[in-house]
Amino acid sequence: IKRITTHVIQEMKNRGEKITCLTAYDYSMAGIVDAAGVELILVGDSASNVMAGHETTLPITIDQMIYHASSVVRAVKRALVVVDLPFGSYQGNSREALNSAIRIMKESGAHAVKLEGGLEVKDSITRILSAGVPVMGHLGLTPQSIYKFGTYTVRAKQEAEAQKLLEDAKMLEEVGCFSMVLEKIPSKLTKQVSESVNIPTIGIGAGPHADGQVLVIHDLLGINKAFKPRFLRHYADLNGVMTDAITNYISDVKGKSFPNESESY
Ligand code: KIV
Ligand code: NA
Repeated sequence: IKRITTHVIQEMKNRGEKITCLTAYDYSMAGIVDAAGVELILVGDSASNVMAGHETTLPITIDQMIYHASSVVRAVKRALVVVDLPFGSYQGNSREALNSAIRIMKESGAHAVKLEGGLEVKDSITRILSAGVPVMGHLGLTPQSIYKFGTYTVRAKQEAEAQKLLEDAKMLEEVGCFSMVLEKIPSKLTKQVSESVNIPTIGIGAGPHADGQVLVIHDLLGINKAFKPRFLRHYADLNGVMTDAITNYISDVKGKSFPNESESY
């Protein structure tokens, strides 16, 4: 199998071919996601929510991200694996950011890192890039700043914030990021950004004009029925499938039909 590289996804944008990305946090799920054929697998700090049950992404640590990322890397044969730098691991100064990125690359075997923000984290991004580590940016709704925003609603609806986002996007391209996530911004702004930068934009809740799309795998699979924001399409009802399987198991054990003769030694 030919591995996906940052160059491959750049060529996809150049050709106008959409890029697909999904999250994964563990070996078993990552193997399925990779075999299905997405180009990018993101070990997102959304693991803090979907794997650990925290309300926000803030509590997850570098060590926990490395645990998830190394599990994913062991399963992936083709996709480019990108790992989120967690909250607090890159905002302090660029040396700290570099240390965090190096730890993640060395200890997990991932291929790139992602971090949130624009101008505020420019020095951190530049320093990580200078060590030869590919960096994916992340603009718009950046969940590590949720307590600044106050809500998870759409960002950059006002002209001033949209202008800053556009400038940040151009900066990310200029310093050498290989791509960027655009999260929960108006479709029109996504179009403008995607046409203004040459590197691929990967959207979530950002409309159809991004060069690629990303979703949290648990959301796409319908594992948490209660979570259904407008931007999400449920491609399966895994919650229903799993619940049926588990209730069938319970009734078979209680009804003494499992295990049967041929399932016994
Ligand atoms: O952590 C995450 O899952 C993400 C994506 C939703 C972009 O950052
Ligand atoms: Na994230």
